[in-house]
Formats: sequence, C-alpha cells, structure tokens
Amino acid sequence: MNKLESARKKINDIDKDIAELWLKRMEAVCEVSEYKRENGLSVLDSSRESELIGRELEYVPEELRSCYTVFLKGVLASSRQYQRERELKPEGSLQVELGDRSYDIVIRRGALSEAGKYMKLDRKVLIVTDDGVPASYAETVAAQCSEPHILTLPQGEKTKCLESFRLILRTMLERGFTRKDCVVAAGGGVIGDLAGFAASAYMRGIDFYNIPTTTLSQIDSSIGGKTAIDLDGYKNTVGAFWQPKLVLIDPDTLLTLDRRQYASGLAEAVKMSLTSDAELFELFESGDIDSRLEEIIRRSLMIKKRVVEQDERESGLRKILNFGHTVGHGIETAEEGRLMHGECVALGMLPMCGSELRPRLKAVLEKLGLPTRISAPPERIRAAMVHDKKAEQGGVTVVKVKEAGSFELETVAFSELFRRLDEYLTEDRQ
Ligand SMILES: NC(=O)c1ccc[n+]([C@@H]2O[C@H](COP(=O)([O-])OP(=O)(O)OC[C@H]3O[C@@H](n4cnc5c(N)ncnc54)[C@H](O)[C@@H]3O)[C@@H](O)[C@H]2O)c1
Ligand SMILES: [Zn+2]
Repeated sequence: MNKLESARKKINDIDKDIAELWLKRMEAVCEVSEYKRENGLSVLDSSRESELIGRELEYVPEELRSCYTVFLKGVLASSRQYQRERELKPEGSLQVELGDRSYDIVIRRGALSEAGKYMKLDRKVLIVTDDGVPASYAETVAAQCSEPHILTLPQGEKTKCLESFRLILRTMLERGFTRKDCVVAAGGGVIGDLAGFAASAYMRGIDFYNIPTTTLSQIDSSIGGKTAIDLDGYKNTVGAFWQPKLVLIDPDTLLTLDRRQYASGLAEAVKMSLTSDAELFELFESGDIDSRLEEIIRRSLMIKKRVVEQDERESGLRKILNFGHTVGHGIETAEEGRLMHGECVALGMLPMCGSELRPRLKAVLEKLGLPTRISAPPERIRAAMVHDKKAEQGGVTVVKVKEAGSFELETVAFSELFRRLDEYLTEDRQ
C-alpha cells in the first residue's frame, strides 16, 4: 500500500468512528429532549449552543479553533435536524424547508394553550389580533409570555392599511421592543398579512409567529411568507416576503368562526385538491368534512408547502394556486363585497373544469353551502375581468383541471372565457 492509500484508509477509519460517535451523540440528544418534554421544558431551545461551542473549543489547539467551530456548528445543526425529524415531530406537524428560513407548522387541537412549547416567548411579545377574533385566543398566548403586549385592531380588510402598520410599529417602539423581541399574529389572513409585514420592517426584521384562526389562513395564507397591506384601495400593493419562525394551527379555534367564513376558506382547499390531490377531493365528496378537518388542513398545507418550497418568490409553479381566480376575481369585483373571496373562487373554478368533473365539483360546493351560480350581471363580470387582466392583451393564461389531481396551463381568449362564464354560471342556461 502506498503512502496515499494508507492515508486515505486512515481517513476512512476515522470517518467510520465519527459516524458511530455521531449516532451515539444523537441518541443522547434524544434522551435530553425526552427529559425536557416530560418536564415541560422548551425542547428546541438553542441558547445552550454558544456555551457548548465555547467549552468544546478548549479541546483543540488555539490556531485550529476557528476550523473546529465550523465542525461543531455542523454537528449542532445536524442534531437539531435529527431532533426534528426523528423525535420531536409532534403529531401532524410539517416542516417548510427553505434553508436557513425553514420553519415548522404545528397542527394540533388545543395547540394554542401549548404555544410556549414551540415559540420563544420569554421576551417582549406583541400579540396582534382583531376584535372579531375571540379575545381569549390572544389572552391564552399572552398567559404563556414573560412580557406580553396585546394589540386589538378593528376586524375587516380595511385594517390591512398603512395606519394599522404604523400603529403596530409605533406600539413596539413606545414599549421598547428591540431586534430580539417578536410579533405574534392571532387571527385570520388580515392580521397575519399585516402583523407579518410589520415584523418584516421593524428594526429591519424581527421574529414573527403566526397563529391563524380562520379556515382560509390555516390552509393557505399563513404559509408562503407573503405579507402585505393594501394601499388606496389596491389590495396587497405594499409588502414583503417574510417567513414566520413557526406557524401554530389549532383547528379548535375554527369552532367560533361563522359558517359562511368557514366554508369560504374551504373553497381554497377544494381548489388545491383539484389541481394536486385527487384523494383530498374525494374526501370532500364523500367524507364528513367537519370531522376530518385536521386531515383537510394538513393535506392542503402539504400542497401549498410544496409549491412554496419550489417557488418561494413566485415565478412559475405558484400559478396553480390561482386556479379559479381569473373568473373568481372578476366576480368578486362585480359583486362589490356581496360575495366573499372563497365564494368567488368556488364559482370561478366551475367554468375551468372538465365536463365530467364539473358536476362533481358542483355537488361538493353545494355540500359546503358555497354558491354555484352568479347573481351579478355577466357584463359587469366581463368588464371586471378585462380590467383586471388588461396587461395580457387578448387572452389570459388560466389553469384548467380536466381530472381531479392534475392541471394544465392554457392561454385562452377573453371571448372563450366569456362563453364559459355564460354557459356554466348563468342561471337561465342551467
Ligand atoms: N399572504 C397570503 O399568501 C394570502 C393568501 C390568501 C389570502 N390572503 C389575505 O387574507 C385576507 C383574508 O383572510 P381571512 O379570510 O382569514 O379574513 P379575516 O382575517 O378578515 O377574518 C375573517 C373574519 O373572521 C373573524 N375571525 C377570525 N378568526 C376567528 C375565529 N376563530 N372565530 C371567530 N371569528 C374569527 C375576523 O375577526 C374577521 O372578521 C385577505 O386580506 C387576503 O388578501 C393572504
Ligand atoms: Zn384565493
């Protein structure tokens, strides 16, 4: 054996030893986390890491310490990942993998009262909510914080504005929030979008946790990192991509949501099932929706998560999330607030389905109490659609679903969209 080969063999043997030691270390890590869990301590607490690095550096000569730090940090990162993947996954939790912006989505009934287990709340915490959300939700979180501040804003889309944004920032400034403090949103998509945007901007960005409490926000808006406010009546015109540190979903919070809001949010889950998960669509068709809500939330989030992971900054794949939205937006504008967003999406999907799928979708929408026919004059909807899509002259790229669980992108002329609108959504044609 020449010198090179013997040195390589030495390295291989050492690597084998390292792998064995690494496994042993991971087992010990699990013992620690088990103890912590049993004793109600925060399991993913990383505050001991710098202490550990400091101590272990003493084992190597001074001139090698910076190299060794790199190695130790790798070991600690692998240990965190190991905990996440093997041990700590609370029932039903998901991970959004976005490199160093990765985060967990905890989905569990009763999770609200365990927020402190998953979030770092031993600092100043601004809990933003609105006056339509039961106050007890924010209070339950506050009870788990060392220094909670609750800010309750008026409910409704109008709250997603510059004035509220300024109020949140000002509240934090007046109360001495630093870069190390955090914001928690407890509410629907309005509060999530607004509070997330404020967190992205305060001191150039502080930690943000999202506790969505509507169906729409639990299945859709709370993940993806899109935060925004409306400006001069234009929706979501000012905002930022800012990923939460954790999303905590407690399906029990939906028990207080009114039925119309509840169904409207679920329209987005039906949408995701149609493009990406035939089994979920079948669940909507034949399952008991209320009792299988957790599964519906989880499966919808799996779809959204996959889209977000592959297309964080919205370049292509996110288009499938727009299924039903081209016609839906037109209807939403023409209805001038009489219909909710999800109700319009429900309607907007019908003309974009294959002929065998359409009656099945209609039955699901009826089961959910969602509309299947338009009431606004079709010419108003047409005008709104043309206005909405004026940049794309002559035609628009839409998502079509022939069979549940698959989709196609197609560029169609406005005239074709109008024909479908008339044929499938107008009262007297049915
Ligand atoms: N960021 C994204 O990716 C994204 C995606 C889709 C939608 N959105 C945004 O989400 C917003 C809509 O969100 P939404 O549908 O959740 O509306 P919302 O936040 O206005 O909530 C709807 C209503 O329900 C009330 N409410 C919330 N939780 C409740 C509960 N548990 N019990 C009783 N009442 C409760 C609220 O007070 C409000 O009146 C829009 O502004 C939209 O632009 C964002
Ligand atoms: Zn939508």
